[in-house]
Amino acid sequence: MIRLLVGILVFVINTLYRNRPYPRFYVLETVARVPYFAYMSVLHLYETLGLWRKADWLKIHFAESWNELHHLLIMESLGGNSQWIDRFIARHTALVYYWIIVAIYMANPRAAYHFMELVEQHAYHSYDGFLKDREIELKDQPAPPVAIDYYRDGDLYMFDEFQTGVRAESRRPTIDNLYDVFLNIRDDEQEHVKTMSACQQDDARIALKSPHSPTQAVFAESTKGA
Ligand SMILES: [Fe+2]
Ligand SMILES: [Fe+2]
Repeated sequence: MIRLLVGILVFVINTLYRNRPYPRFYVLETVARVPYFAYMSVLHLYETLGLWRKADWLKIHFAESWNELHHLLIMESLGGNSQWIDRFIARHTALVYYWIIVAIYMANPRAAYHFMELVEQHAYHSYDGFLKDREIELKDQPAPPVAIDYYRDGDLYMFDEFQTGVRAESRRPTIDNLYDVFLNIRDDEQEHVKTMSACQQDDARIALKSPHSPTQAVFAESTKGA
């Protein structure tokens, strides 16, 4: 079922947007944020009900959604959302996928994380192919200001926060042109794949921590509720 859900999404995006990369990435980024919203909604519900507190996971999932938001803002700055039909398709698909992922996450969190691991893998390969096909053209174009601010000149706390597979502050991108921007978007997707894989491990409840977590005691898993 998970593979079918991902397959439908990939088929629709690849078929409808074969020759329109920026609208295609705009749709992909709009939908790709939604599972993180679904995870946060369910985790928030569990915490509100006093069932399960997992502050680190909420923080990491928000940072992941924040990263995807910036991918989306970059696509919008490149004109990916300029046509009404693309905004319509992206938003309605996101709405449907949000509720599907909420239901899957409540029934089987590991399956919901597996879904996102596959989506992130697809995103990685999409950007990797785009970089290979358009290298010269992309190196000739400037980076959008939103990308320069997010990756290089702004506050990079949130940029570090979603990368659970690397030490905080160890990745500092060079952003000189549009190629660098897409290279880093691609690498972000690879970090998402790693985190989604880590979320499915047996020891994830204990082992998966915010990159900024000072001690395990502060963020220790609590079953006592709020
Ligand atoms: Fe993305
Ligand atoms: Fe992603």
